[in-house]
Amino acid sequence: MSSHNVDLSTTLAGVRLKHVLMNASGILGATPEHIVRLASYGLAAVVTKTFTEKPRGGYGPPIILKLKNCGYINAVGLANPGIELLPQVVKKGKELNLVTIVSVGGSSLEEFIKVSTVALDSGADMLELNLGCPHTKGYGLDIGSDPTNVYEVVKAVSSLSSVPVIAKLGLSDNYVKSSGKALEGGARALTLINTIKAMVIDVYSAKPVLSNVFGGMSGPPIHPVAVKVVYDVYKEYEPDIVGVGGIVDWVSAAEFILAGAKALQIGSALSTKPKEIIDSVLKGLREWVSELGYTRIADLVGLAHKK
Ligand SMILES: Cc1cc2nc3c(=O)[nH]c(=O)nc-3n(C[C@H](O)[C@H](O)[C@H](O)COP(=O)(O)O)c2cc1C
Repeated sequence: MSSHNVDLSTTLAGVRLKHVLMNASGILGATPEHIVRLASYGLAAVVTKTFTEKPRGGYGPPIILKLKNCGYINAVGLANPGIELLPQVVKKGKELNLVTIVSVGGSSLEEFIKVSTVALDSGADMLELNLGCPHTKGYGLDIGSDPTNVYEVVKAVSSLSSVPVIAKLGLSDNYVKSSGKALEGGARALTLINTIKAMVIDVYSAKPVLSNVFGGMSGPPIHPVAVKVVYDVYKEYEPDIVGVGGIVDWVSAAEFILAGAKALQIGSALSTKPKEIIDSVLKGLREWVSELGYTRIADLVGLAHKK
């Protein structure tokens, strides 16, 4: 069968996507201009930068390092323009006919609710709750590593949301339990994973290189870890999962599908030649599905569990 007939569409939390690829939060998505750029890459959905209630300047430079192992470490500190600009960002996504997912940040239940309310009033198609950012005190993983907090935040937002709520979790000792609590709280899907805590020390100044001392590692080095997290969580609950972490080509994307992901996000790899990467991952996935004798990528989700 020709790979041209392969169907790469997917359904995430009941929302149909034309194919499996979207950007990861934080890679553009903070302004309407960013949304226009993301639209030009041919993604199936766009995810905004994490928005908090108030604008955040983030940490001082350096905030991002390229590693020798092809990964990155960043400690941006959730820099974002705050909820005042959020309606314009969502409006741009809708104008461009994109499924628009708003990444919601908060350091308290009240903040999660405030940001979610603005996102919903602006017409967001889904909310992705940032419960996994590892380097911003009081946000992300500080909340998401405790399954009880995860339950409370997800439940509070899900009960007011008219659209599907996705919980984005990071690596912690509790990721399986936190995933279960997110689903119990009403999450319709899980995004797994965020960056992983890491640091670099300059051997001449004898000081940590990042202004925040440590940051979150992304890119190829975290890919096998992320695949295992997706595999473990799918094995336990079989939820709708968005796999993210170190996708650079169709093989790294395909592994997530086999582990149990229904959709995928690409972050760090979009920093160079984003359109070429998206096109080549989609082409490679089409050929792979066809070579395995299937017509729909949806039929390959979680196949590694059946072996
Ligand atoms: C510069 C940078 C900024 C990021 N900002 C956010 C963010 O605002 N919210 C969030 O949930 N994740 C954020 N992330 C994490 C990514 O969404 C993604 O989970 C992570 O980078 C792993 O994917 P990758 O290996 O494809 O980059 C950021 C990552 C990077 C590299």
